[in-house]
Amino acid sequence: MKRMPDPSKPPTVTLVGAGPGDPDLLTIRAVKAIRRATVLLADDLVSDGVLRYARKGARIVHVGKRGGCASTPQEFIHRLMVAQAKAGERVVRLKGGDPFVFGRGGEECDALREAGIDVEVVSGLTAGIAGPASIGLPVTDRRHARGVALVTGHQQHGREAPDWAALARSGLTLVIYMGVARCAQIVAELVAAGLPPATPAAVISNACSADQRQALCTLAMLPETVEAGGFASPALLVIGDVVCAAPAWGASDVALAVAAI
Ligand SMILES: C[S@@+](CC[C@H](N)C(=O)[O-])C[C@H]1O[C@@H](n2cnc3c(N)ncnc32)[C@H](O)[C@@H]1O
Repeated sequence: MKRMPDPSKPPTVTLVGAGPGDPDLLTIRAVKAIRRATVLLADDLVSDGVLRYARKGARIVHVGKRGGCASTPQEFIHRLMVAQAKAGERVVRLKGGDPFVFGRGGEECDALREAGIDVEVVSGLTAGIAGPASIGLPVTDRRHARGVALVTGHQQHGREAPDWAALARSGLTLVIYMGVARCAQIVAELVAAGLPPATPAAVISNACSADQRQALCTLAMLPETVEAGGFASPALLVIGDVVCAAPAWGASDVALAVAAI
């Protein structure tokens, strides 16, 4: 049945963070928004378990943007959200993790507001915090780090890359999203800038899902570990002394990796 716009209510879109995968990690506010929605625009990284909260009859549009693959143009997503909201639909834009952490949430808010649409944002657990936490890795443990930097390893056309040399000197735990494909270059830049090759490091893929895998090693061994282990997107690189606070640090394969330096 066609939904009629209610002139007393401004059209609204809710940007919802779906967390890193496990539906148990959704916020209660996220679940309420998903249940209310009549149209959901979902990213690739939104798990089926999360989509099961959608009401019967809700229209789910998959608008994935997985790195390296054909993706839905951002402009199309903007137009679709605007059109559905103006048509009176209760629109939820569902994004993996948190909408404002490498999620283009800011751009989507701007596009919606420019079109006269109100925006509500529901934060989600970002993979860069929840993934390390899932292996007991406390990213800002003050005994090991001054703080944490969430950075992207994906080099976008026309945009500046992270300042790896500055990050190497920062004393921050580095959580690198979209970094597995460029792992060797990133490690080379960090080591060239003075980060010790023996710095603890981790790679975690499909965090907080049944397919989660991880490996702990040294910075020097990270490219080899990623390649030999077949780690692929979605994955995170975590670099910093704090990695040795993870209970799995000290396992025999990590010791071997350290010895190999
Ligand atoms: C476009 S970014 C989206 C990040 C998301 N907004 C967040 O807050 O987690 C996609 C990247 O996030 C990371 N990522 C997202 N979900 C992940 C997961 N479950 N496990 C590991 N990495 C993940 C990967 O680096 C992936 O390539």
